[in-house]
Amino acid sequence: MAKSIAFNNTVLRDGHQSLAATRMTTAQMLPAAPILDSMGFHGLETWGGATIDSCLRFLGENPFERLRTLKKAAPKTPHIMLLRGQNIVQYTSFPDDVVESFVRCTAAAGCDVLRIFDALNDIRNLATAIRATKASGAHARGEICYTTSPVHTIEAFVTLGIELEKLGCDSIGIKDMSGVLAPQVAFELVSALKRKTGLPVIVHTHDTAGFAAATYLAAIDAGADVVETSIVPFANGTSQPDTLRMMELLKGNPRAVEYDRNKLIALREHFNEVYKQLSKFTSTDNERVDSDTLIYQVPGGMLSNFRNQLKEQNMTDKFEQVMKEIPYVRECLGWIPLVTPTSQIVGTQAMLNVKFGRWKQIPQQTADIALSKYGRTPGPVNADVLKLVCDRYKAQPVQGRPADALAPRMEKLRSELKAANLPTDDEACVLHAMFPREFAALHKPATPAPAPAPVHVQAAKPAPAPVPAAAAAPTGDYMRFNLTVEGYSTEVVVEDLD
Ligand code: CO
Repeated sequence: MAKSIAFNNTVLRDGHQSLAATRMTTAQMLPAAPILDSMGFHGLETWGGATIDSCLRFLGENPFERLRTLKKAAPKTPHIMLLRGQNIVQYTSFPDDVVESFVRCTAAAGCDVLRIFDALNDIRNLATAIRATKASGAHARGEICYTTSPVHTIEAFVTLGIELEKLGCDSIGIKDMSGVLAPQVAFELVSALKRKTGLPVIVHTHDTAGFAAATYLAAIDAGADVVETSIVPFANGTSQPDTLRMMELLKGNPRAVEYDRNKLIALREHFNEVYKQLSKFTSTDNERVDSDTLIYQVPGGMLSNFRNQLKEQNMTDKFEQVMKEIPYVRECLGWIPLVTPTSQIVGTQAMLNVKFGRWKQIPQQTADIALSKYGRTPGPVNADVLKLVCDRYKAQPVQGRPADALAPRMEKLRSELKAANLPTDDEACVLHAMFPREFAALHKPATPAPAPAPVHVQAAKPAPAPVPAAAAAPTGDYMRFNLTVEGYSTEVVVEDLD
C-alpha cells in the first residue's frame, strides 16, 4: 500500500509572513505550540525567512530566544527554518565564517531542519550552508526555487536536484514562492526528482493563484513525500493551503492522511484571535485568489506590497504598466527567479523604468545582479543592459563565487560588539552582522529602532540626475534603494515577500 503523505505546518513562519507581514509575536504563538507539537506533523516551520528581521525590527524580540522558547514548547516535532544560503536571512552575501557560525547557532538553539535556497539557484551559494548544516548534525533540505522562463526546464531543475544530492542534502524541497507551479508540471518534476535522486521530495507552494491544492494532489500522486500546509486564517491566498482543507481533499486517495480534527479546530480558534490582533497587517488583497501572479510571475506577497509601494510613489495608476515591465526586467537580468531579494530588486527596477524611462535609473542592487555579484544568472544578462551597468558603475562582471571575495568577519564583528559594550557570543555576532542597528537597539531600548516606513526627503541641493546610489552596505538597510532624481532624493524601502 502506498505510504501516507505527511504534512509540515507553516503557520508559525510562512503563514503569518505571507498574510500578516511577519508580525506574529512569540507570545501569540506559544498557546498553539503544544497543540501543533501533538498533531504528529512531519515538521513545524517556525523560524527563518523574514521572522528574524521582524523580531528585531518590529517586535523587540531576540530571534534566537524565540527559537529556544518554541523548541521548549514543542519539543517532539522537528523545527524547520528557511535560510537564504550565503545571504543567511539578509539580502547580500556574507563571508563563509559568518554563514557557518549562523548555522551552528541555529542548530544549537533547537532548529532541526534548514531549508536552504539561493535566489538565483546558484549552487555555489548553497554549498557552505549545506556543509555547515551537515557538520552541525542538522538536516539539510536543499531548495529548488521554482519559476517559469525559457531557461527553466524540468531538466534544469532536475540537474539542480542532483547537484543538491551530491552536496550532501538530506532532502529536496521544491520552493514555489509565486504559486505558479501547475499540477501537471509538479507531477513531472516530482516524478523526475524521485527517479533521478534517492532523496525525499517536499513540495512548498502558495495558493496565490488557487493552484496549491491541485498542485499538491498531483505531487502526491507523483510520489512526493511531504507537502506543506498552514492553519486558517493564516492559510490559503498568498499562504499555504489550510491543513483541514488539504486533508479533506485527499479523502479516498490511497495516500490520504488523518490529523486530529478537534485539535485543528482548536488551533483555528486560537489563530482567529491572533489574526484579529494583527488586523493592522492583514489585507483582503492577500487572501483572495489572484491570477495576476500567473500573468506577471510575481509572488503574491509582492503584488500586495507593490500596490502600497506604488501608492507611496504616487503611481497607483501605473500598476498594470509596472507589472508588465517586470517580465521584461527579468529577461534582461537573465530570467532570475523572483524571490527575496531578487523580487524586490526586479520590482523596484520595473517601477523605475516606468517612472523615469527604461534603465535611466539603475540602483546598485540591479547593477550587482547584472555583474553576477549575487551569483550566476540562469540565462545571460542582456548585453546592452550589461554595457550600461559596466559604464555607469565602472565595473566588470565577476566570475567566481560571490563570497570568495569576502574576508572572514567574525572576529571583527566580535571586537565591534566589545567596543559597543554589547554581548560578544556567536549569536550576537551573526545578528550584528545582519542587523547592526536593530541588534544594538534590542540591548539599549533607549535607542529607537529605525522607522520602517519609506521616507521622501528633499535633497539639500539639487543634484544632477540621475546618479548611481552609493555602494550598498551589507546591513539591514540594504533594501533601501537610494535614488536621486531631479533634485529629490528618494528612499524606497521594500519588505520580504516570500
Ligand atoms: Co513560502
